[in-house]
Amino acid sequence: MPRRILVLVGHPDPSPDRLCRALAAAYAEAAEKAGHSVRKIDLALLDFPMLRTMQEFEHGTIPDGLKEAAEAVVWAEHFVFVFPLWLGTVPALLKAFLEQVMRPGTAFSYPAKGEGLAKSLLRGRSARLVVTMGMPAAVYRIWFFSHGIAGMRRGILNFVGIRPVRETLFGMVASASDARRAKWLRQMRRLGERAV
Ligand SMILES: Cc1cc2nc3c(=O)[nH]c(=O)nc-3n(C[C@H](O)[C@H](O)[C@H](O)COP(=O)(O)O)c2cc1C
Repeated sequence: MPRRILVLVGHPDPSPDRLCRALAAAYAEAAEKAGHSVRKIDLALLDFPMLRTMQEFEHGTIPDGLKEAAEAVVWAEHFVFVFPLWLGTVPALLKAFLEQVMRPGTAFSYPAKGEGLAKSLLRGRSARLVVTMGMPAAVYRIWFFSHGIAGMRRGILNFVGIRPVRETLFGMVASASDARRAKWLRQMRRLGERAV
């Protein structure tokens, strides 16, 4: 079954040389080739303000620079977030994007008075987090309990109804050989073909 996939690069550095961009492109190309519909968002190329108030979050409108991206979030059945680990977690730019987009009306709705929990509006979607990092991936998993990306999975994506959220971690990227990078790109192509 063809899927609607949103590939989102959350790297603040717009340089085409970043590994994250190559990983995202490999996934997207393979998914398109396999017949899936793919849209791409590169956060480094978007211009949008920080969300600063609860008033704005609940009653404001999505900033003009993010309208198309917010529409793509609602359109997608599967999300692929590709980003580097920065200070143990997602880069601030990606968090700022999620604060703007995963807001009431788009991603969830508050319960009516007297009713129980918030209603997730993005139910039925799935996601994959592809994260590059300087340390060995096993160290981040075992020693740090993958805390930064667990926060994104549970506190944001699961909250708005997106599950399962799968993870692919690539560690020690600075010293990775060309052969190792080529292996990672092949891994991304295989995931893209299967749209998972
Ligand atoms: C501001 C900043 C913070 C970083 N913090 C971490 C970190 O907490 N843990 C880690 O393993 N690597 C950290 N790194 C290394 C990046 O994760 C690494 O450079 C990146 O994953 C490489 O992928 P890229 O080629 O797509 O940039 C940090 C890098 C920067 C610039």
